[in-house]
Amino acid sequence: MDVGGTFTNAVLNLKAVVEQSADTKQKNDYQVLRPGLEGVPVTQSSICDIDGSKGNLTYRGYSISELTAQSSFLETAYLLIWGELPNPQQMRDFEAEVRMHRRVSFRVRDMMKCFPATGHPMDALQSSAASLGLFYSRRAIDNPKYIYDAVVRLIAKIPTMVAAFQLIRKGQDPIQPRDDLAYAANFLYMLTEREQDPLAARVFDKCLILHAEHSLNASTFSARVTASTLTDPYAVVASAVGTLAGPLHGGANEDVLQMIEEVGSASNAGAYLDEAIASKRKIMGFGHREYRVKDPRASILQELAEELFARFGKDEMYEVAKAIEIEAEQRLGPKGIFPNVDFYSGLVYRKLGIPRDLFTPIFAISRVAGWLAHWREQLGANRIFRPTQIYTGPQPRTWIASEERISSLNN
Ligand code: CMC
Repeated sequence: MDVGGTFTNAVLNLKAVVEQSADTKQKNDYQVLRPGLEGVPVTQSSICDIDGSKGNLTYRGYSISELTAQSSFLETAYLLIWGELPNPQQMRDFEAEVRMHRRVSFRVRDMMKCFPATGHPMDALQSSAASLGLFYSRRAIDNPKYIYDAVVRLIAKIPTMVAAFQLIRKGQDPIQPRDDLAYAANFLYMLTEREQDPLAARVFDKCLILHAEHSLNASTFSARVTASTLTDPYAVVASAVGTLAGPLHGGANEDVLQMIEEVGSASNAGAYLDEAIASKRKIMGFGHREYRVKDPRASILQELAEELFARFGKDEMYEVAKAIEIEAEQRLGPKGIFPNVDFYSGLVYRKLGIPRDLFTPIFAISRVAGWLAHWREQLGANRIFRPTQIYTGPQPRTWIASEERISSLNN
């Protein structure tokens, strides 16, 4: 497999720029605080580009709309991780290897049976992903075969683990992957225990493409920080899953449906937004650090939702969602706040019969491709992340013996 050339060049370029900037390093003003690292470049990357003012998103130079129309999730994952689209033989090999590694050990399934059924599936996924490190614990991260195998295993097993926890928490045994089904169709089969309509599988595969990568978002940054310690890729993915779970990141798609339910009807959208904005509540599924226009993924997801509604019947919530978008544009549009990827994804997943608390684990199934691409890139030019801080605590002071301390609570 010749996937190293472009990658090696990118690494050399990166090293050159990093060395050049070493001179200016001392001159940096370490006292400038940038909360949330907004606008602070912390790495170079050749994986994904976002033009937030125009609403353009590319993976390795290919536009998201073209990838969604032409590619499959596995092909897109290959592109993201290895830098180039696979040739037919590479694609066949990759698909076959992912298919072969879909099963998870009975030990992982048994471990998941001990998880509380009421626990959130993201917590179950984080624990299960981390547990893979116990099974494949050789940290040979300088060995291309180890890297390839880890990529295959993570892409293959994460969907199986998400589907397994769904059945286990209902008191059922997980069902085995079906080798005759492609990636998306097999996941829906393992989750719902029946083979889905090909349109459902196709739409789901496109959703995976749309969520696969988005430059240095919080979970990807988390993945890169963990990767920079040279730990194993299972720990990298587990830390990223934990970060993705939060409501300001991947978890927002669950809250969007909750919000649409609270709005209740299209005619109530304006009043709901007025009240939420006046009480400084965030409108879930709106706003993005990078975009000042509608997220291109939201537009594609909206089209996918409409495709599903045309085939399988309307969803009343869609009318409410559209009304929220129209009303929000008047109120938040001038501030550059528009629907993000989470706004319509929940409606698509709902139509596919997927339970609400699995929306974020599904995001993770897809985003593992981006995390692994960043893992490889980080290893190619690694320097451990160790930012600085502005200390605001007490100056050095004298120790006070326990009996001489006056409780500040009594004062
Ligand atoms: N509803 C209302 N006001 C908003 C929203 C929103 N969804 N998003 C931002 N604003 C306002 C915010 O109140 C602030 O106003 P002001 O300057 O008057 O105080 C201004 O816009 C800047 O907001 P911010 O929170 O400082 O912006 P940020 O870049 O730190 O946050 C965000 C980005 C995505 C965390 C934020 O827009 C948000 O919390 N959105 C709702 C949650 C959500 O949908 N998250 C999914 C993000 S996309 C997928 C993903 O990354 O997983």
